[in-house]
Order: sequence, then C-alpha cells, then structure tokens
Amino acid sequence: MNFDRLFQPGTIGKMTLKNRIVMPAMGVALSDAKGSATGKEIGYYAARARGGAALITPHYASVSADSSLPYTIVISDDGQVGHWKVLADAVHAAGSKLSVQLMHIGMIYLYSGYVPEGCTIKVPSTTLWLKSTYSYHVLSEEEIERYIEDFGQGARRAKEAGADAVELHACHGCLVSTFMSPLTNKRTDQWGGSVENRVRFARRIVERMREVVGPDFPIIVRMNASDDIEGGVSIEEAQEQAAILEKASADAISVSSGMEFWTPQGIPAYPFPEGAMVPLAEKIKQAVKVPVIAAGKITPEVGVRVLEEGKADFVAMGRPLLADPDLPNKIKAGRREDVRNCLYCNNCLRMEAGAPSCTVNPFLFREARYPLKPAAKPKKVLVAGGGLAGMETAVLLAERGHHVTICEKTGELGGQWNVACASPGKGSYRHLTDYLNKQISRLAIPVKLNQAVTRETVLQAAPDTVILATGAVPIGLRVPGADKEHVVQGHDVLAEKVGVKGVSAVVGGRFIGMEVAIKLAEAGKPVVIITRGGLGEDGVKLEKFTFQSIANRLVELRVPLYLNATVVEINDSSVIILMNGEIYPVPADTVIFSVGMRSVADLARELEGTGIEFHMVGDCVKPRDACEVHTQAAKIAALV
Ligand SMILES: Cc1cc2nc3c(=O)[nH]c(=O)nc-3n(C[C@H](O)[C@H](O)[C@H](O)COP(=O)(O)O)c2cc1C
Repeated sequence: MNFDRLFQPGTIGKMTLKNRIVMPAMGVALSDAKGSATGKEIGYYAARARGGAALITPHYASVSADSSLPYTIVISDDGQVGHWKVLADAVHAAGSKLSVQLMHIGMIYLYSGYVPEGCTIKVPSTTLWLKSTYSYHVLSEEEIERYIEDFGQGARRAKEAGADAVELHACHGCLVSTFMSPLTNKRTDQWGGSVENRVRFARRIVERMREVVGPDFPIIVRMNASDDIEGGVSIEEAQEQAAILEKASADAISVSSGMEFWTPQGIPAYPFPEGAMVPLAEKIKQAVKVPVIAAGKITPEVGVRVLEEGKADFVAMGRPLLADPDLPNKIKAGRREDVRNCLYCNNCLRMEAGAPSCTVNPFLFREARYPLKPAAKPKKVLVAGGGLAGMETAVLLAERGHHVTICEKTGELGGQWNVACASPGKGSYRHLTDYLNKQISRLAIPVKLNQAVTRETVLQAAPDTVILATGAVPIGLRVPGADKEHVVQGHDVLAEKVGVKGVSAVVGGRFIGMEVAIKLAEAGKPVVIITRGGLGEDGVKLEKFTFQSIANRLVELRVPLYLNATVVEINDSSVIILMNGEIYPVPADTVIFSVGMRSVADLARELEGTGIEFHMVGDCVKPRDACEVHTQAAKIAALV
C-alpha cells in the first residue's frame, strides 16, 4: 500500500505539521510525586517525536488546583512552566511539535476512581445517578468565570513553555464536556438548556484563550461528537457545537466520543471495528471548515483511506504509538511489516506505577533502556518453547547478537497465543505472532518444530544458556464427573480442536470463559456460564472498557449466567451447582472448563545440577498476562 498521503504536510491555523500523524493526549502517570517531569517521561515523549509523529500531545494538563491526578504535571500555576518547557524542548529537539491539552477533570474522577482528599467533583448540576460515594459541587456563575480564567492562564503558561499549540479538553466527561452534554447539564441559567447555552462555557474558554495567546497561536478543541449514551450529545448536536467553537476561533476540531465513566467507545478495545470513530469525524468535517482530527483504532491503512476520502485532515494514533513509537518512520521507510501493531487490548489503561503497560511493546516507559546493548560476548542460546515468551526472548537475544535456536514441541510457533487469536473479535491479535515470526525470519533464527527439549537434548546441544519458555496448560476441577468424555477445555473449543454438542455449560467466567460462550452463542449454539464469583473476577482487576465490551456482548447474545455458583458434580446431562445455599442441576450436554492454568516447568528441575545456565520466562514461571510475559522477556534478554 502507498502511505504517501500520511506524510504530506498539513496546517492547523498558522502551525505547519510535517505529516498527518498526531499523537493524542494519553494520561500517563510518569511524573514524580511532586508532579515534576521525570527522565522516564521525557524519554517517552522524545521517543514518539523521534519516531516521526508530527504533533505530540502529552497527557492532559490540569488548569486548576482542584483537578489533578497523582504523578502528573499540572499547569495551574506559573511554577509549572519549567516542567512543560522541558517536555517542549525534548519534543522539539526530536523534530516534532508539541500541543498541551488543557483540562479540568470534572466527572472523569468517576472513571479514575481517585479523588484527592478533601476535593469535591465539580459538576454543572447534579443528576440522580451520580455515585453517592463522592461529594459533588455545582458551580456558581462566579466559579464558572473563575474556571474560564484558569483555562486562559493555562494557555498562557503553555505558550510561555514553548508549546506550539494548546488543545481544550472538552470530551469524555471532563468539566467542559459535562457542561456541553444534556445528560449532565440540567442548569436553567445561561449555562444550561439550549445548545448555545450548554456550549457557552467551552466557547467562552476558547475566546479567553484566544485573547491571551493572540491570533496566531493554534487552539484545538477536542470534543465528543457523541456522548454515546441515550440523552447525551448526539452527532447532530455536536455538529452545531463544533460550528460554534469554530466561530469562537478554534483552529481545529479533534473528534472523540463517549463519557469515560459510562461507555467504552472513546478508547475502543479490540471488539470495536477499525476506525471506530471515523464516521463521527466525517460528520463533524461536514459542519466546519477548520481541519478535523480523527481518532480511534486508526491503523496506517485506515489513516490513508480516511485522508484520501476526505473524512478528516489529520489522524490521531494513540495506542498504536504506545505499541510502536517508530511507527511513522517505519511506514515512511517502507518497513510496514516491522511495526509492532497495537492489539487494542487496553492493557495500557491498567497502568499502575511500575506495572507492565503494553502487550506488544515491552519497552514502553523504558525507552531510555532501548535499544538493548549488543552482547559483549555472543553466546549460544537454546530457547525451549516457541510460545510468545520464547519467541520474544529469542528475537531480543538475537538482536543483541547472540546465536539463538528455538525448539518447539508442537508443529507451530505461537503457543497459547494462537488460542487467544481464535477468540471472537481477536483475529487481529495475530499481528503479534506475525510480527515475531517476521523478526525470527529477518534475524535468521533457526526454529526446530516438533522437537521437545529434554535434559538429554540440552546436554547434547551444549548451549551456554537455556531459555526455558515451556508455558502452561489448562487445568480442570476436582469434582466427581470431571473426567467424563463430554468435559472439555475452553482452549480446545476456541482452537476448534474439539466440538460441542447440545447445550454447553462453560465453567469459569474470566476472559476465556466469556469468549468461549460468545463464540458458541454467535454460532447459534445454546450456552450458559457458571462461575464461582462474578463475571471477570479472580482477584486480578480487568480493564474496564474491554470487560464492558465483552459483558455487553454476552447480554446481547442472552447468555444465561450462574454467578457465585460452585460446581459440585458433573453427570451425563447436567452440572450440579451450589448457589445461594441451594443445589441446582444445570442442564448440559457439553461441559467446558475455563478455570485456570498450571505452569509446565519440569525441564527446570531436570536442568538443576547440570551446571548449565538457564532462565525461566513466561507462563512456566507462573501463568500470566502476555503483557507481563513480554516485559519479563525483555528483562531476561538484557541479562544474558
Ligand atoms: C492510556 C490512555 C489514556 C488516555 N488519556 C486521555 C486524555 O488524557 N485525554 C484525552 O483526550 N484522551 C485520552 N485518551 C484517549 C486517546 O487520546 C485516544 O483518543 C484513544 O485512545 C483512541 O485512539 P487510539 O485508538 O489511537 O488509541 C487516552 C487513551 C489511553 C489509551
């Protein structure tokens, strides 16, 4: 495919961008406890600028002291200008422009689940469904004027810091967007009611920012083109709002959607289609003359199409740039197949301090340590196991110059990941194994398929180091009847290694269980889920938007759920469960276990005492998320 269209320069107001790829704001908690820029943070943004994105928008910047989140640089006083200058300088030095997203968090606190002590959530008005665990404060007209000034001063500070543009955050349930939405704004004064009144706050902010920054400094407005909730902003209304904001001197409209505390559309996970919000951007483009920025699962291919078809003027790539900061440069250089494609798994939203954050990019937030240094003394390395852990470790070790061989006991590489790819909506997960396979070929790593590694084969091959990546296998339940013929594993159903007959009862309600049920229900097969807790529970927090998308699908497909139910026995025609202190037989012709995994680590025991250096990686250490597997692979690859 020809990607030239992505690399044509474009303008926003007086600002010229070298190409059409924009990195949108993504809240990352990389600052220190005092909210100062850290080396990690600077490295993270500089890497995206070096990688070729034309405009970098760092995480949102709170314009008011009562709107902050921890480990984030705010812009609510002049003392912060220096921190933003550091980011602006780093981005400029790497060849890109910087836009600062100005924000008052408002009801996004409901999504973040964190409200600073003593802080109330600022709202235009109260509504019955607001969570009662928090305190709310309805803004007076005087306070509204004060916040307008906060945005004006935030814009001044961004300009003083050397930013090239500012962006008003007016989407997702932040304070400004809750004023714009009929769902959250029930005011009856000049700030509520009609479209003009509800958009008044945003309009006045744009006008004040313009007064402060002057006519030539670009102002972008990021707004919801739909709240994606009944009773919220519709696309027709958003068109009117966009036109009003353009008139108020906005130089571009960046299109997003959804209220973060309620709907998953703003950060669409893998079940959503590619270019999920492009139709909304296209509608906004019909309503304004200024450039429009589209976002939401925009791959390079989708990006070219969106630009060529005139549906938007710029494309934002958020998670794709987390997954691969060098995406623009790789595409431009004709290296499409070397891009680590985003899977839209939304692990990046589970970001906790120090936790792995991207399934496909083990170096996210560790950019300063990448590229790995070439090995001082190349070693002969045997990788036992060709699942994700083995593949990733092998690639990184070979990139460092080690002589690596992969042995895999089955006939193909990929391991459990191939099962994940077979889950409904997860076909694009194949990108990850495709990428690793391409790198294995590029690096000419020998792969021996159908070759299990034993103590003897290791001794015979005499490697300097063994990487043990022997994975994990699904487990069952210890209940009478668990060994019956009609009891199968969810992994095997997903991989279509076994078939089902009659009514299926899936035992286990985490991802695999839910996905098996969806797969069967989509094929028109009757299925129920039995789980010992709630859906998605087993102590690990699931990412909210992905969970919500999958749970919604189960509801659409009307899959019956038996929650907080313990399986006590399986017989030929039913699963006997204990629920609410009562025994129930749940009719089932096929019983599908999806209750967890067990590590396979026999080789580690066999290698002990041989004097051969070995490292264990992936599920053979402990069954885990692919995201953790990659991070661990990178750590081990750096060690050898
Ligand atoms: C970790 C994360 C944090 C985000 N934080 C913000 C934010 O602070 N402000 C904002 O306007 N959008 C935020 N977003 C939304 C993104 O800017 C973007 O619109 C969204 O991820 C869809 O684009 P993508 O499919 O290219 O990732 C965030 C997204 C992610 C993944």
